[in-house]
Amino acid sequence: MFTVSALTVAFSMLLAAFVEADDKVYPFVANQSCPHKAWTADPFGFHESDAPNAPLRPAGTSPFILRLPDRLYAGQTIFIDGKTAENPILISFNLLAGTTDVSDNNGEVAMHWTQQYTYGLGFVTVKINGQWDPNVLQIGLLPANKEFKIALRVLEDSFEIFKEGVRFDFFAHKVPIDIIDHIEIIGDVEINALRVVGRHFPFPFRTKFHGTNLMLNDRIRIEGRSCSWFLFSILDAKKEVAFQWFVNISAKKTTRNAVVNGTWGQNEKDGPWYFPPEGYIFVLEIVNEEEHLSLMVNGNAFATFKHRVPNPKEDYVFFEYTDEEFDVLTLEVCSD
Ligand SMILES: *[C@@H]1O[C@H](CO)[C@@H](O)[C@H](O)[C@H]1NC(C)=O
Ligand SMILES: *[C@@H]1O[C@H](CO)[C@@H](O)[C@H](O)[C@H]1NC(C)=O
Ligand SMILES: *[C@@H]1O[C@H](CO)[C@@H](O)[C@H](O)[C@H]1NC(C)=O
Repeated sequence: MFTVSALTVAFSMLLAAFVEADDKVYPFVANQSCPHKAWTADPFGFHESDAPNAPLRPAGTSPFILRLPDRLYAGQTIFIDGKTAENPILISFNLLAGTTDVSDNNGEVAMHWTQQYTYGLGFVTVKINGQWDPNVLQIGLLPANKEFKIALRVLEDSFEIFKEGVRFDFFAHKVPIDIIDHIEIIGDVEINALRVVGRHFPFPFRTKFHGTNLMLNDRIRIEGRSCSWFLFSILDAKKEVAFQWFVNISAKKTTRNAVVNGTWGQNEKDGPWYFPPEGYIFVLEIVNEEEHLSLMVNGNAFATFKHRVPNPKEDYVFFEYTDEEFDVLTLEVCSD
C-alpha cells in the first residue's frame, strides 16, 4: 500500500512539474477601454472596476500572445489597433483554443487572419484537427507602413469583420467560440491597443449609470456602428429627459435638447461634422463637466451642452435608447 501511494504521489508531482514547464501563462487581454476606473458593459450586465485588468497596449513585440480572462461571448468585440511594418512579409491574427501557437496541431485555430505580403495574399481560415480549411475568405492586404484598425464582433453564428471601421464581411464559426482562450498576433506589426469589450445590447435599452448616477468628471464612452440615424437620452431620477442627442447621418444634422419642468427647451444644432458615413464604427464621449456636458465624436471636440438640470453631480441617472437604429458595441463610463 505504502509503495503504491508514494509512487502515485511521485508520479503526479512529475506530471505537475511537466505541465507547469510547458504551460507558460500569458498576460490577460484588456477587457475595458478606460485608462483607470471604469463601469463597463460585460456579457451579463455592468461591471465596476478600479483599474484595467491588463494594459490597453500589450507590451513587447511579435509574437503578442494574450489570454482571455474569461470565455468569449457572442456580443463582445475584439478591437485591434496597430501599425504594419515598412516592408512586411507576414502578419497573422489568430484566435486559438487549447494552444498558444498557431503552428501547433494540438489545439484548434478558430480564426486565422493572415497577410502574406510576398504572395500578395490576405485571407481568413480555420485549422481543425491539424487541418487547414481550404474554404478561405479573401480579405486583401492591410497597406504596408500604415496604422490600421480592425474589429471582430462575435455574433452567435459568425464573426463580423471590420476593416478600417467598416464591415468587410462575416466569417461563420467553425470552432465553438466558448473554447477560444488565447489571441496570438505574429509578424511584422506593432500593436497599439487590444481590447475585448462589450456585449449584445437589446433595444429598447435603459440602465442606471454605476447603478446610481453619473458623477462629476465621468466620461461616458459609447462605441457604436452608425445607422442612417440614431438617438439616445440621459434621464433624471424622475425619468425626464435631461439630455437627448439626435444624429441624422444621412442628412448630416444633429440636435441636442432636454425637457425642463415638462417642456422641451431650445434645440442646439451647432457643431462641426465629425460623424463617419453610415456603417462605420464611431466613438462618442460625453464628459460631465462643472458647467456643461462636453461632447466628443471620434476624439474630436464637437460641442458643449450647458447643464439644464439643477444638480449635474446627481441628476444624470439613466442612459436610454429606444430604437433599433442605435447599434451599440460597447458602453462604458470612465472615471479618474
Ligand atoms: C475583466 O477581467 C477581470 C479578470 O482579469 C475580471 O475579474 C473582470 O470581471 C473582467 N471585467 C469585465 C468587464 O468583463
Ligand atoms: C434624416 O434626414 C433625411 C434627409 O434629410 C430624412 O429624409 C430623414 O427623414 C431623416 N431621418 C429622421 C429619423 O429624421
Ligand atoms: C421648474 O420648476 C421649479 C419648481 O416649480 C422652479 O423652481 C424652476 O424655476 C422651474 N425651472 C424652469 C427652468 O422653469
